[in-house]
Amino acid sequence: SHIPVIAIDGPTASGKGTVAHRVADKLGFHYLDSGALYRLTALTALRRGTDLRDEHALAKLAEHLPCHFSNGEILLANENVTEQIRAEEVGNTASKIAVLPTVRHALVSLQLGFRKTPGLVADGRDMGTVIFPHAQLKVFLTASVPARAQRRYKQLIDKGFSANMEDLLMDLQARDERDTHRAIAPLVPAEGAHVLDTSAMTADVAVETVLKWYAAVA
Ligand code: C5P
Repeated sequence: SHIPVIAIDGPTASGKGTVAHRVADKLGFHYLDSGALYRLTALTALRRGTDLRDEHALAKLAEHLPCHFSNGEILLANENVTEQIRAEEVGNTASKIAVLPTVRHALVSLQLGFRKTPGLVADGRDMGTVIFPHAQLKVFLTASVPARAQRRYKQLIDKGFSANMEDLLMDLQARDERDTHRAIAPLVPAEGAHVLDTSAMTADVAVETVLKWYAAVA
């Protein structure tokens, strides 16, 4: 299809959510937060007490997620769970179930459906490698572990969650390990991806850089 896609992948707390969202706003494009889909599946599983090894039950949850995205709010069967899905427990569970091929497969068509005119900015781990391999622009956004732990700490505190720096560093490393080494759709820069290290970069500069790259291929 000719509808343009900008794929922005990278590790957790690399700043890609902020950057992807703002790039989408600037271009008037739709925005896909694919991590939210894994988080919504995780939240549903946690609430129902679904066995996290039961890949078929989890895939069923993923396939029938009653989710809606509007104006930056995330609804699950009409309940606003925008903040709840950011909790560390939900993120950790999301990363555990994201290793399951059945779950990943169940979320494919939902993700493809976000590609609508005039364009899409897709944020995740495998946007450029698996879901939108023909994206016009692929960006791999990264940052050092300490820089990401600092950002996650601030995000959690700002949202009223409690946070402990040492736990966050360990969680980030464990999650990186799982995301990078899983057999299916591991977190790696897509072929042809522009790598952007945001450790010492403001969000403004990161956004401008991505827009400049896009202008060169659009
Ligand atoms: O990006 P976010 O931290 O919200 O993602 C939560 C988890 O979902 C990640 O740790 C990752 O394991 C998984 N995920 C994924 N593929 C994506 C997006 C997220 O496996 N495209």
